[in-house]
Amino acid sequence: MKEVLSKRFREVYSRDPEIIAKAPGRIEFIGNHTDYNGGPVLGAALDRCVWVALARRDDGRRRFACDIRPGILEIPAGTTERQTGSGSWANYPIGVLAAMRASGTAVPAGFDYLAASSVPMGAGLSSSAAIELSSCLAFLAAAGASVPLEALVAIGRKAENEFVGVPCGILDQGVSGFGRVDQLVYIDCRGPRFDSVPLPAGSNFWIFNTHTKHALIDGLYSARHQECMEAAKVIGVPLLVDATPAMLAATEKNLSRTAYKRARHVIDEIARVGQAVTALRAGDLPAVGKLLLASHRSSRTWFENSSPELDFLVDCLEAEPGVYGARLTGGGFGGAAMALTSDQFGEKAGNRISEAYLARFGSKPEIIHARTGDGATLVTGAK
Ligand code: GLA
Repeated sequence: MKEVLSKRFREVYSRDPEIIAKAPGRIEFIGNHTDYNGGPVLGAALDRCVWVALARRDDGRRRFACDIRPGILEIPAGTTERQTGSGSWANYPIGVLAAMRASGTAVPAGFDYLAASSVPMGAGLSSSAAIELSSCLAFLAAAGASVPLEALVAIGRKAENEFVGVPCGILDQGVSGFGRVDQLVYIDCRGPRFDSVPLPAGSNFWIFNTHTKHALIDGLYSARHQECMEAAKVIGVPLLVDATPAMLAATEKNLSRTAYKRARHVIDEIARVGQAVTALRAGDLPAVGKLLLASHRSSRTWFENSSPELDFLVDCLEAEPGVYGARLTGGGFGGAAMALTSDQFGEKAGNRISEAYLARFGSKPEIIHARTGDGATLVTGAK
């Protein structure tokens, strides 16, 4: 990828890149919508990354290009307006620059920038956190600066929350920053505090990308966020992580039905994350799989962020030998389902599910046998 990216950079800018950085997409393993409620979550970094190549300029001009849109976008320093239309992808690197400035971090004056991705877009695999973290590492290197990993993650999230405008939690950026091969990233989101849990040998991840996305996805995410905050308020706690099942039962009559359902999902899901850590440490993959399935059913019933496509995939996967468990991964309302499997599950079984899905929905899902990868890395620094 490094060579392909350098070649593309030369084609676009007629010069060599000085700096190359990469950051991975992620799987949300378990802990659905727990992050902004202060709870724990487990994720895995993928071996698929967003790569950023950059060369500094002396004239202060800032030029942006990427592999999914033609042309070069020139955006003056200090721009606070969000880009719309075909330039909207650039809100990620621009948002990162704004977040770096706001955090008192040095930013480069002028540069030529190119991003390329092997993370599927719009699949719920967090290509957005990957572009945020890889961009931030490249900008830091260009400015001759560095920050601790926690700060890199915080800058990525700030860009997403304040510039891109999505009130996400710390999951995506945290996993993209702290990911390690063959490990799950555990995040205690209130801290936040980052840790890792080894993946038992013989764990395989399969991702089924539906290529569907609810038209109102951003609005639905914000609505869930608000409903959770409303539930916490009625229960009388700062965040749902502070509520117990007994507190929920005691306040059920005061909660709107919607607030009750959202709180029920989050409180149960927080418990499932803890149980998953214990089962993982014991190497008990069948027990982990059951928790993944319970998580999906809870998303479908209580949080109402699944879709007919995701439910169909999870039901098909559950019936396959070699599948420990499956669930929607990420925000939901479309996107992808992921399965934790033994080596027994392979392409043949994937294709069978794909054919059944085609017969039902008229198109095939994209199937990825995903490998875990390392977190955000500066591949080539400035000389
Ligand atoms: C999206 C957000 C994350 C998290 C998940 C749901 O991926 O970006 O912060 O809230 O949804 O768990």
